[in-house]
Amino acid sequence: MNGLEIDPFIAALPKVELHVHIEGTLTPALRWKLAHRNNIPLPYKTYEELLDSYKVTYNHRREVNGDNGAPTFLEAYFAGCQVLCTEEDFYELAMEYLEKAQSMNVRYTEPFFDTQAHTRRGIPAEAVLNGYLRAQRDGAVKYRVRSNWIFCFLRDESLEDGLEAYRAALPWARTSDGQGKGLFHAVGLASNEYNRPPMLFEEAFLLAKKDGLHVTMHCDVDQKDAVDHVHESIFQVCAGKGAQRIDHGLNALDREDLIPGLKSRGIGLTLCPHAYHRRQATETLFPKIRKLWDEGVKFCINSDDPTYMHNVWIDGNMMKAYHFCGFSKADMATIVKNAVEMSWADEETKGEILAELKGLVEAEK
Ligand code: HPA
Ligand code: ZN
Repeated sequence: MNGLEIDPFIAALPKVELHVHIEGTLTPALRWKLAHRNNIPLPYKTYEELLDSYKVTYNHRREVNGDNGAPTFLEAYFAGCQVLCTEEDFYELAMEYLEKAQSMNVRYTEPFFDTQAHTRRGIPAEAVLNGYLRAQRDGAVKYRVRSNWIFCFLRDESLEDGLEAYRAALPWARTSDGQGKGLFHAVGLASNEYNRPPMLFEEAFLLAKKDGLHVTMHCDVDQKDAVDHVHESIFQVCAGKGAQRIDHGLNALDREDLIPGLKSRGIGLTLCPHAYHRRQATETLFPKIRKLWDEGVKFCINSDDPTYMHNVWIDGNMMKAYHFCGFSKADMATIVKNAVEMSWADEETKGEILAELKGLVEAEK
C-alpha cells in the first residue's frame, strides 16, 4: 500500500509542502518510544501489534457509514497524539519530520499544528509552541528545511475554545506588529468537518487577518456538505473575500460555480492524492485531478497525514500524480512552481527554490 517506486526525477525535484498535519507524521517508532518515556499506556503489547494497528482500513465517517468496529481516521490520529506530553516530545516530532523532509528534498514547508488537542489533555500550550519553535529554528540550520507553521482551529470544538487557544498562541505568531516569535504565519482548520462549516469560525478568521496572518480552509473530500464548505471558502469567509488557499477542495468539481470561483479569486488547492486514493478507484480519482489541471485550477501536491496513510509521503503523492494523471516532467515542475507561488514563504526563499527547479528542468532537456 505504500505506493509506487519513486522515479529519480520526482525524488530530485526541490519540494514545497503546504498540507501536512504535524501529528500525522508521528511514526510508530517515535510513538512507541514516547509512550514508554511518558508512561502512557498503549493498547498494544508489542511493537509489532502497534505496527499492525496501522494496517486497518479506517471507518471514513461513523455518522454516515455506521460502526464497523474499525476506528475512524481521526480516532486513530488523536490516539497517536496521546504520547506527546513535553516540549521535548513536540520538538522531537517536528525534528523527525524536518529530517524526513530533507531526505525528500523538501526545501520549505508550512505544517499544520494545533494546541487544543493537547491542552484538552492537560498539556500546556507553551510545551507545544516552544517545542515547534525550537524545531523550526534548529531544523532550518541542521536540515536546511525552512518552515512557517499554520495554527489550526479544531472545528469540532467551539468557536470560543478556538479563540481562547488562538489568543494564548498569538505571542508565537508572526504578527504584522513584528512582536511575535515567528512560529506561525497563518490559521486554518482541522478535525471533524461533519456539520462544522467554515463560516462557524468567521470571527476567528477576521481576527487572524487583523493580526496580519494568512487564512487557509480545510475542505475534506466527500464529506457531508463538502460542496457547500468549498463554496463558503471561496465566496463567504473573510468578509466575502474568501480564503487564500483551500486544503483538499476536490469537490469543487461537483458544482459549476466553484471552478470559476477558484480561478477568478486565484485560490489554489493543496491536494493530497493518496488520501483520496485510499477510498476512490484509480480510474475515478485521477481523471478528477487531471480535470482540475485541464481547467486551469492551480494546485500543488502534498502528503496530509503520511504515517496514518500507509507511509506515503510527499514524494509518493507526487509519484502518484505523475504516474496516474499522465503528467510530463515539465508539468511536475509546474506543480512545484505552483506550490512555491501558493506558499507564504519570503521572496528570497521562493527565488532560491525556483532557481533550483529551473536548473533541474534544464538539466533534463
Ligand atoms: N483531516 C481533518 N483533520 C485533520 C486531519 C485530516 O486528515 N489530520 C489532522 N487533522
Ligand atoms: Zn488535511
